[in-house]
Amino acid sequence: MDTISVAEARKSEAVGRVVQLRGWVRTRRDSKGGFSFIELNDGSCQGNVQIVAPGELPNYDAVVKHLLTGASVSITGEVKASPAKGQATEVHATAITQLGDAPAETYPLQKKGHTFEFLRTIAHLRPRTNTFGALARLRHRVSKTIHDFFDEQGFYYIHTPIITASDCEGAGALFRVTTLDLDKLPLTPAKSVDYDQDFFGKPAFLTVSGQLQVESFACSLGKVYTFGPTFRAENSNTPRHLAEFWMVEPEMAFFDLTDNMNLAEAFLKRIIRDALDKCPEDMAFFGERIDKTLLPRLHSVLEKPFLRVSYTEAVAILEQSGKTWEYPVGWGRDLQSEHERFLTEQHFQSPVILTDYPRTLKPFYMKVNDDGKTVRAMDVLVPGVGEIIGGSQREERADVLEQRMREQGIDPTAYQWYLDLRRFGTVPHSGFGLGLERILLFLSGMANIRDVIPFPRTPGNAEF
Ligand code: 4AD
Repeated sequence: MDTISVAEARKSEAVGRVVQLRGWVRTRRDSKGGFSFIELNDGSCQGNVQIVAPGELPNYDAVVKHLLTGASVSITGEVKASPAKGQATEVHATAITQLGDAPAETYPLQKKGHTFEFLRTIAHLRPRTNTFGALARLRHRVSKTIHDFFDEQGFYYIHTPIITASDCEGAGALFRVTTLDLDKLPLTPAKSVDYDQDFFGKPAFLTVSGQLQVESFACSLGKVYTFGPTFRAENSNTPRHLAEFWMVEPEMAFFDLTDNMNLAEAFLKRIIRDALDKCPEDMAFFGERIDKTLLPRLHSVLEKPFLRVSYTEAVAILEQSGKTWEYPVGWGRDLQSEHERFLTEQHFQSPVILTDYPRTLKPFYMKVNDDGKTVRAMDVLVPGVGEIIGGSQREERADVLEQRMREQGIDPTAYQWYLDLRRFGTVPHSGFGLGLERILLFLSGMANIRDVIPFPRTPGNAEF
């Protein structure tokens, strides 16, 4: 006898098979005819399979009739065509074993809907709900597409370090990694912390981005990407920021900004297409239960080319919009979420790539334009989320790069290895970073980034 998943048991090809199924009871309903219906879910798909449990089972009165929502069970039975609407099959049980119970008084996930806020307090149990099961499967799918897409395009997957001494974004939003005793810090004669005595012999941090290291491989293997967790110690309590998030960062030698934008657009479209094609049940669930405008929005994004607009043009549009902003608008000021969302959701009603930002707003590694005022930056904005990708053409001139570091208060001596990439066989190159949780917000219609990562880390919260 085969053990199969609920996903397999729900397909009509399974009819006639005698199988074992294992999972968790979603609901149990006792019929007047002396038998019970159990809705069984094992996470293999969104839907449940209906188990028909006859009263003749030896443990029917003692066990089956007491199975509660959340109990774990092992079931043997025959898959039959279901006479009921909306399901191809049902399983007629010949044996049911309860593996673990879930007392109704204490098991928090009863049938009624729960708020996402409440579910965050039980993040270890929320994967058992329809929404979080769907999000986990979608997250898997997107991760797989990321690898498929780059593999098909001839990229190599590079594992960049989690612990680093470099601040890639130069924003100082770093988590320190140390083995020093914080209650008894060793001091130098000048009374500053003596990092010579620390584990790495110098200050070390959790990475904010694998870009600098992946550039080293782009400047030898051509097309590469890194994909892993990144960490930002910004005190941003917003529905779009996490302190720990996953980022995929492709980096390509010989790509200019236009090549970079073309790749970013093709990449996003492939992720959307794969989600729709390969997770149809979960995507239908999001479109039905989370956001009714989701599926039309995703389809429209697939159909249209992304607009490409300079930062300077975008600022002019914002200034002429006649709107009042919480944060002021003006050339040289950073764009806030309200501005980005106005541009993509109301003004253009389309994904839009903003380019050529003022050099003062962007990190040292971006290539300076001939105007001397702007850099070859690109931010991809999408409706419903705002910024989803940030990237640029990189500064490949060693002298300009070093000057940009100084201008931003970064000591070039700490980045000699990075400058070497420009000293020896330098090439034009470009890359970008896509936040995995931002694309999951976009694909699912979920409103809060804390709900699209299994265990969110945000200021004041590292539960579970
Ligand atoms: O624009 P960012 O900071 O770019 C970089 O880190 C570059 N080194 C990427 C590169 O060129 N290789 O971040 C890139 C993306 C953002 O567009 C956003 O999707 C996501 O990472 N992101 C965050 N997601 C969740 N929480 C945060 N705190 C995030 N910060 C950035």
